[in-house]
Amino acid sequence: MNTPERYTITSALPYTNGPIHIGHLAGVYIPADIYARYLRITGNDVAFICGSDEHGAAIPMRAKKEGVSPQVIIDKYHFMIKKSFEDFGITFDNYSRTSAPIHHKTASEFFKELYQNDKFVEETSAQLYDSEAEQFLADRFVIGTCPKCSFEEAYGDQCENCGTSLNATDLINPKSTISGAKPVLKETKHWYLPLDQYEDFLKEWILVGHKKDWKTNVYGQIKSWIDDGLRPRAVTRDLDWGIPVPLDHAEGKVLYVWFDAPIGYISSTKEWAEREGKDWEPYWKDQHTKLVHFIGKDNIVFHCIIFPSMLKAEGSYILPENVPANEFLNLEGNKLSTSKNWAVWLHEYLEDFPGQQDVLRYVLTANAPETKDNDFTWKDFQDRNNNELVGNFGNFINRVVVLTHKYYQGIVPEPAELSEVDQKTLAELRAYPAVISSSIEKYRFREASQELLNVSRLGNKYLADEEPWKLIKTDPERIQTVMYIALQIAAAVAVLSEPFLPFTSEKLKDILNLSDRPAASLRTDLVKLTWNDIEKEQALLKSGYQIEKGSLLFSKIEDLDIQKQLDKLAATKKANEVATKEIIPQKETISFEDFTKLDIRIGTIMEAEKMPKAKRLMVLKVDTGVNVRTIVSGIAEHFSAEEIIGKQVTVLINLAPRKLRGVESEGMILMTEDIEGKLVFLNPDQIEVNPGVTVN
Ligand code: MF3
Ligand code: ZN
Repeated sequence: MNTPERYTITSALPYTNGPIHIGHLAGVYIPADIYARYLRITGNDVAFICGSDEHGAAIPMRAKKEGVSPQVIIDKYHFMIKKSFEDFGITFDNYSRTSAPIHHKTASEFFKELYQNDKFVEETSAQLYDSEAEQFLADRFVIGTCPKCSFEEAYGDQCENCGTSLNATDLINPKSTISGAKPVLKETKHWYLPLDQYEDFLKEWILVGHKKDWKTNVYGQIKSWIDDGLRPRAVTRDLDWGIPVPLDHAEGKVLYVWFDAPIGYISSTKEWAEREGKDWEPYWKDQHTKLVHFIGKDNIVFHCIIFPSMLKAEGSYILPENVPANEFLNLEGNKLSTSKNWAVWLHEYLEDFPGQQDVLRYVLTANAPETKDNDFTWKDFQDRNNNELVGNFGNFINRVVVLTHKYYQGIVPEPAELSEVDQKTLAELRAYPAVISSSIEKYRFREASQELLNVSRLGNKYLADEEPWKLIKTDPERIQTVMYIALQIAAAVAVLSEPFLPFTSEKLKDILNLSDRPAASLRTDLVKLTWNDIEKEQALLKSGYQIEKGSLLFSKIEDLDIQKQLDKLAATKKANEVATKEIIPQKETISFEDFTKLDIRIGTIMEAEKMPKAKRLMVLKVDTGVNVRTIVSGIAEHFSAEEIIGKQVTVLINLAPRKLRGVESEGMILMTEDIEGKLVFLNPDQIEVNPGVTVN
């Protein structure tokens, strides 16, 4: 085993402008959690740090839209997000928030430290200003055309299409996202971090120093930015939401959210250390500590260029050892989007699949967007659950547990002499910890998860080849050995699955009576197993050891469950289409007299018949109370004749008759469209009335 080391592991602080979804989990929090759990169980000193990012521009915007204060928004989502992380077994050592006093203090002091050491350039320049909203525009408050890729909806700090980091004044045809106004230029003073002065340092540190060990997608992005040349970057903003610039004569100015947020990692570490009675400094300042940032690809520039330059400018901090950024996860072929509600929200997943956190953890790991964007589909979710978790992992454990109880009352049997196959199987098993470790240490979590499944696959194959259920009658002694070996594999699975499937691992430890099972804290007679024990030539579960019965680890997901999710997404898609449909402007005003000219009644459809050779038209006989008359209506694509006969509908009866395809129509049925674009009669509840009553 390696000598224990100290790790500071951070995962991107989520913005509190909405709940979190599978994209967040797959891209950042699951890989970070697997990494942290793995390092802890292999004996390292780990601080796994996160918190809410509460100064993002989207927060006051959302607050405005909902008519509440930003505080209401950040409280709501901070607690919601925190709970989702707990529910999914993300084991942060600390989850803080950037509105916490300790963070305001830490960020302010960090700024002052750089200010006093002349690390900033102070500059007054013309910036975009919305004179309607009386506000300077930067970041998300302004969109325009990206000067690099011509994407028309680039933000003032970054183009989400090509990833380029921008200054608001770089945008072509800028437009205020608050009022839609075309901004004017107005002078204002700000403090800039002169990134150009850090170019050499960044080149040396990353482009030379980390060419080999950083992911190519991360390295490539950084290289292209540095090759383009870095420019000074403002670290303050003219806004009323954020941490006030801690200087005199800086009223109305706050720290840029991307200046304060990464410092949140430090404040959160301080908060944790204080609570645990530890010293925070070694986690950020000891050269031997390994700092690893888990983020999504849109955060690369901030974690690999801006934040390291800030740390370098301060001078006493360590730099990240690695920044294993992931690409994006899509959902059923479309980009995940909080504003378009195109997501699988974690809290909703748990309502539909209670207790099945590990299934989602597993699928998101097995299909993680590590090297390219990936698609999450419900079909793949179902297949992986049914084939890999139920069919492979669960099936193996179930066979072992059931047979051990059937043959030996749950007691690990005494093995006889091991055959060559037994020896080989055990040798293969003992190699797995190193194989899985090596994948995890290279941040290849998909690969690691597949190796874990290979352990239970090894067990399934062993049982299938040795067929204990056949030989138990004829060669019971041999089967004692077979079951003994199978139990060793099951114990290894319990330990090795912990980083990936923590809830399942706990259940399995409960079944196998392993000491770190949650219900066993008072018992001292149980076996304690670690990751490294699996490599040793020794029994993991000794003969004579009692195991429990337990219940199934996984269950099959049915087509119906999946269809429900697909229906939900289809409804979202429809709702979005409707929301983006243009509202027809109001028509010219009419007088009350004009209105009273309309004679609208409720009538009953007595007969209906499709008009031959006209796709849309239906010929109706309608009892209007006044008389039964013919009305031609364009509803044939939406209704069959049978389903509308007898329906009561709203009719304009004094419309001048007109001929449609040779049939005279004496009136008009009033209709509207439902959310899915289907025509509905204006009397949707079919309130029973006498034909001929007026509508007014
Ligand atoms: N809130 C940012 C996002 O969701 C991430 C902030 S990471 C930190 O994109 F380093 F600034 F904390
Ligand atoms: Zn662009």
